[in-house]
Amino acid sequence: MNILLLGKGGQVGWELQRALAPLGHITAHDVDTADFSQPDQVAAIVRAVRPQVIVNAAAHTAVDKAESEPDLARLINADTPGAIAAEAADIGALLVHYSTDYVFDGSGHAPRDENAATAPLSVYGQTKLEGEQQIMASGCRHLIFRTSWVYAARGGNFAKTMLRLAAERDELKVINDQTGSPTGADLLADVTAHALRAAQANPSLAGLYHLVADGETSWYDYARYVIEWARKQGHTVRVQPENILAVPTTEYPTPARRPLNSRLATDKLKQAFGLTLPHWQQGVERMLTEHLGK
Ligand SMILES: NC(=O)c1ccc[n+]([C@@H]2O[C@H](COP(=O)([O-])OP(=O)(O)OC[C@H]3O[C@@H](n4cnc5c(N)ncnc54)[C@H](OP(=O)(O)O)[C@@H]3O)[C@@H](O)[C@H]2O)c1
Repeated sequence: MNILLLGKGGQVGWELQRALAPLGHITAHDVDTADFSQPDQVAAIVRAVRPQVIVNAAAHTAVDKAESEPDLARLINADTPGAIAAEAADIGALLVHYSTDYVFDGSGHAPRDENAATAPLSVYGQTKLEGEQQIMASGCRHLIFRTSWVYAARGGNFAKTMLRLAAERDELKVINDQTGSPTGADLLADVTAHALRAAQANPSLAGLYHLVADGETSWYDYARYVIEWARKQGHTVRVQPENILAVPTTEYPTPARRPLNSRLATDKLKQAFGLTLPHWQQGVERMLTEHLGK
């Protein structure tokens, strides 16, 4: 299989370099050689490589910054994916793309499935939705995975930050009214590899899927979980459990509004591909064990 990977240096892109390796020959680019602010340049790369599969992990993911640079966010999240999709349709390639629960307004408490009405609250969410729409309108075969709360072992992440703060401070305040499922970039990449093989063999599997780890939590319970895990493992933890304080989102005003309910229903993906999605705690513990070396 001839695969073109775009956005190879991001959280998901980095794990895709590993997970896609056994599937075939990979041509991988980052912003230096495939700049998503230039749709024509990226489209020309697709034409030159003529891959059977394109996996796009590049995105404008700076959610707050996107509020003040909507044109750039739209180019990166919508117009260039649209240009890639048009080329994919031309050459008959399968396009794999990632989207987000930020396409929803996050009202209510139930998990949303793929048919739920979209209503983004932010420029990031709006431009990611437009990216989905451009891909679908192109008529190319595609797999779009909407995910949420992505973390990776490489680089910084929420859990590592909480552990650092827990070792330094006597008190921590963490948001308690946003609910979602922390999802590892490694899980996303592994499921991508399984799903794209299946979709190459059976084109009727193409479509839009929700893909997150099993279970749910708030940022507050997530922080408590990793801090208590570290305490049990014998790592330095200064903050006492009673001094980890739950606060509402309104206490941390940000330029972009975030959905309170990030729950995504994954039944469609599990049934279509015959896959199991592990509980979020499993992936987080594994990442922390690797990080802390125990
Ligand atoms: N992170 C999350 O919590 C989350 C949640 C839901 C959905 N998603 C989606 O999951 C996918 C992967 O996200 P991620 O977590 O891996 O994000 P990430 O770590 O921020 O990776 C995005 C990649 O895109 C690159 N990029 C930015 N501007 C670019 C440009 N002009 N041209 C080419 N590449 C550019 C970034 O490069 P630089 O680092 O050099 O800027 C980075 O390597 C995205 O579609 C994202 O929307 C993420």
